[in-house]
Amino acid sequence: MTVQDFTSAVLRLADEGIAGVEASRSAEELEALRTALLGRKSGRLTELMRQLPSLPPDARREAGAAINRAKTALEQALEARRAALAGNGGKQAAADLTMPARRTWQGAKHPVTLVIEEIVDIFRDLGFTVATGPEAELEWYNFGALNFPPDHPAMDMHDTLYLEGDVLLRTHTSPVQVRTLQTYPPPVRIVAPGNVYRRDFFDASHAPMFAQIEGLAIDEGTSFVDLKATLIHFARRFFGASKTRFRPSFFPFTEPSAEMDVECGICEGSGCAACKNTGWMEILGSGMVHPAVLEACGVDSERYSGWAFGMGPGRIAMVRHDIPDIRLLYDSDIRFLEQFVR
Ligand code: DAH
Repeated sequence: MTVQDFTSAVLRLADEGIAGVEASRSAEELEALRTALLGRKSGRLTELMRQLPSLPPDARREAGAAINRAKTALEQALEARRAALAGNGGKQAAADLTMPARRTWQGAKHPVTLVIEEIVDIFRDLGFTVATGPEAELEWYNFGALNFPPDHPAMDMHDTLYLEGDVLLRTHTSPVQVRTLQTYPPPVRIVAPGNVYRRDFFDASHAPMFAQIEGLAIDEGTSFVDLKATLIHFARRFFGASKTRFRPSFFPFTEPSAEMDVECGICEGSGCAACKNTGWMEILGSGMVHPAVLEACGVDSERYSGWAFGMGPGRIAMVRHDIPDIRLLYDSDIRFLEQFVR
């Protein structure tokens, strides 16, 4: 046999074999074909292979390659037919292109984070920078430097979470005032968002951890006029054109101190459940920084004065979105949170 005769016999066998495979109707028929073509003992391709040694030595490589190509083609045809007979249409059809796509999951910022960002943006426009401080704080920063008398009830173990010795979880963001003034000489204008901790039960209106935003402005000649003008400007931008009022209050670290209310946005002042029928909503505590605080921070209280405020963005988010239970802010329930995707 010449090489040409040999390779055309191989090609013919492959063509016939593939046609037979594609025409086969059952797994048994297919298996019989496989044995007839590739069987070790008397398969037709195996027999052709046995004739290889009879070819001239320099032709054996080419003839061997033709055998291998035919074998691969037959095996692929057998496998494809096997899959088709098994009913899945072969490997290529594994994807159903008519199936609706899975919805892509979209994360959202937490409603409290959104409120914080909005508040920070308003103060940034007024020249305030963002400052931060540690959540595990020393008693001196949380209370002492802020002019709390040594027997103040807030320092009691029943109100404050102590970690060890004089280290506690800060009960407010006001210690950031102290840390800032120790680090940067006035003039200073900062807002300090962050989490604070109190020994409260977790119920519809209390959480043992919540967010606050502190504000501080220190300069020569700053007065209560600046405090009022700035905070009224803030309330107008954040709550719309609402009315505001200041009520006298008390904090150890400010003198005088005031609480600021905005007209209730839900009932527009006529009284409803959200504002407990007062027509007003308390949004922040504020005041002129006490000279004792300035001195504790190493700031000359004869030369400098300033004002500060603190507010709770969680409460503001609850009022804004009519959220009835503070625990919703901590549950991480996607069905609740995804309402704030924007
Ligand atoms: N630290 C106060 C609190 O947690 C809030 C506060 C009131 C902050 C008046 C201030 C302020 O800076 O001037 O209740």
